[in-house]
Amino acid sequence: MDFRPFDTRHYDTVPVKAGYGEWAATYENTVVDLLDLRLLAGLSSVDWQSCQRAVDLACGTGRTGVWLKQAGVVVMHGIDCTPEMLEMARRKGAHDRLVLGDLSATGFDGGAYDLVVTSLVDEHLADLRPLYAEARRLLAPGGRFVLVGYHPHFLMMGIATHFDRSPGEPVAIESHVHLASDHVAAAHAVGLRLGEMIEGVVDDAWAGVKPKWYAKYRSHPVSFAMVWQGPG
Ligand SMILES: C[S@@+](CC[C@H](N)C(=O)[O-])C[C@H]1O[C@@H](n2cnc3c(N)ncnc32)[C@H](O)[C@@H]1O
Repeated sequence: MDFRPFDTRHYDTVPVKAGYGEWAATYENTVVDLLDLRLLAGLSSVDWQSCQRAVDLACGTGRTGVWLKQAGVVVMHGIDCTPEMLEMARRKGAHDRLVLGDLSATGFDGGAYDLVVTSLVDEHLADLRPLYAEARRLLAPGGRFVLVGYHPHFLMMGIATHFDRSPGEPVAIESHVHLASDHVAAAHAVGLRLGEMIEGVVDDAWAGVKPKWYAKYRSHPVSFAMVWQGPG
């Protein structure tokens, strides 16, 4: 779904690669771990330590990869379409292999991963179906696909993913709204079934991290995590 009818802030909007290319240098100073890493830690159906091979789709600067490695994932591959973000991940060294490219056509071996992860990415995809199809192709029998997303509720309140180009100059990155039912439809089309879903809300932990959001959006859902399972 097009984000524009929901837009309340009307920031300049740039395409994904241009946006993350600019944001890469300061991305890690601004992204909030409560949004995604807390949700990864809150999942109960994934035994990270038993994951031998994982792939991190849209790995960005490697934040997710660092978390996964610390959680016990053994071998990890990553892909991202923005060279500047990928370069940061390369320097971080959490991934064993990194590739520049689109997450819908990774070129990684099919059926080779017991874990596929993508975090804070789906709102940038116009269509979820190629993501779910590629995740399904990559999964080994019995594997899990973990998707962490910025909540559609927040997008529908008018707040696109954005960064400050310079102080007081916010820029939005092209965003799309996907309802939970869009995820279910894309997953079911490739034979994935939901094993677990949790949501993150702006709770007291946000008070010191993003005080303006805490004051304005307290108790609103801000992110979600889904665990999809294939057959076997
Ligand atoms: C918000 S960052 C998240 C990165 C990382 N998961 C993290 O948590 O820090 C979004 C990333 O998705 C990447 N991205 C967006 N669309 C993509 C696509 N179709 N294929 C590959 N990477 C994509 C961007 O380049 C950016 O690095």
